[in-house]
Amino acid sequence: MNWQQVYNSKLITRQEALSYIKSGDQVISALAAAEPRGILTELHTIADRVKDVTVVTCLPMDSYEYYINPKHKESFTMEGWFYSPAIRNAHENGNISFIPNHLHLAATKRLAHRKPNIFIGTASRMDKHGYLSLSLSATYERDMVEHADLVILEVNEKMPRTFGDTIVHINDIDYVINESYDIPQLGISEPSEKDKIIGRYIADLIEDGSTLQLGIGGIPNAVASELMSKKDLGIHTEMFTDGMVDLYNAGVVTGIKKTLMNGKMVATFALGSKKLYDFIDDNPAVVIAKGSWTNNPYVIGQNYKMVSINTTLEIDLTGQCCSESIGHRQFSGTGGQCDTAVGAQISQGGKSIIALYSTAQIKVQGQTDRKLISKISSRLTYGAAVSLSRNDVDFVVTEFGIAELRGTSVRERVKRLINIAHPDFREQLKYEARELMIW
Ligand code: COA
Repeated sequence: MNWQQVYNSKLITRQEALSYIKSGDQVISALAAAEPRGILTELHTIADRVKDVTVVTCLPMDSYEYYINPKHKESFTMEGWFYSPAIRNAHENGNISFIPNHLHLAATKRLAHRKPNIFIGTASRMDKHGYLSLSLSATYERDMVEHADLVILEVNEKMPRTFGDTIVHINDIDYVINESYDIPQLGISEPSEKDKIIGRYIADLIEDGSTLQLGIGGIPNAVASELMSKKDLGIHTEMFTDGMVDLYNAGVVTGIKKTLMNGKMVATFALGSKKLYDFIDDNPAVVIAKGSWTNNPYVIGQNYKMVSINTTLEIDLTGQCCSESIGHRQFSGTGGQCDTAVGAQISQGGKSIIALYSTAQIKVQGQTDRKLISKISSRLTYGAAVSLSRNDVDFVVTEFGIAELRGTSVRERVKRLINIAHPDFREQLKYEARELMIW
């Protein structure tokens, strides 16, 4: 079979792809760095022709005209599994809504709710056997390739070719578009002094031979740089990051002690710098598998000494974490925070860790100066979404130390969490705990 001929017969332009979208359709887009920037950039050009098109996405990297411009509200609404700065800023337009989810069930539950009309994603170049790779994500993308009425992929030779559930055959794709835009990158900032202190506390909790999940956000990424003295770590994570590449290159991550997928680094999507994309390109040591498998707590738990390291916006004195909203305002999403924390607890020798700064400088409406608040509070802010139940937090780490919550009573948790709060807020927290009878 001449697969190139088959490929050529499926080749269309962006405009042709857009012509397949009809009023009332549900269009699912690949996430983050795997998002199809070509079609999404031009989606608003069909606004006069369509009504009530729902675009479902997750962690979009760009602010696309179709959803940031309120004049297109009648034509498009967006539903998001995870908010990014781009959606967060446009939320007030009223055309965007969050889909509450645990990431490992995102695709399954959405498919139960509604079958997608069109899936638009990205892929790396086709090989001589007719296979393409969905490249940077298999979180729900592979499920959508299997279930959407129509599948359109933007094929970009700059996308890394990855292995796992990302591999799809040209026969299973309806149309392809040739593209060559740059892949979005995530800016990585240097770890601060506070990050390093937190990283060192976490390093004390990680035994050699552990398998790690590092969550999204500044702290988990900084933690990686404090693990350089560890031996034979493994990776089973939702998001593959630059820090993991550094640990692999330093010989710290070997995967040889992994009890599941020995020797392989497992993730469901990758997001980072060009260094990361070059590392995973054609690299059989990295497996990008479906989110329904990678993030399934029972799969995660098959790794012995599984350690999940996530961060949060706010934690109350009993251990409940709000990691995705500021009051009622959706900030990000649950993502795999609960999946990975539950998986780590199922694991033999596993640990579920939440790491956060003790304070935050927050914007206050109508004021220019930011206000310093404690991220450890007696009660969550009114409207806050509980992303991680207090039952699922084993350790909390701030720059003031480690609070082990495993097996402890509320009374003990209050004491331990106040001990790692910023000293300026400890007396107030003690007072509030007494007033609220949190003991
Ligand atoms: N109250 C109000 N605002 C707060 C706050 C609080 N308690 N804590 C932080 N903030 C503000 C910060 O001031 C900052 O505001 P700015 O953008 O105006 O500066 C903003 O919230 C982000 O805080 P930051 O600590 O920089 O966030 P981050 O980028 O490190 O991300 C999470 C942290 C919790 C939002 C992120 O990890 C997340 O979405 N987690 C849920 C999903 C997850 O953990 N998945 C794991 C599997 S990958």
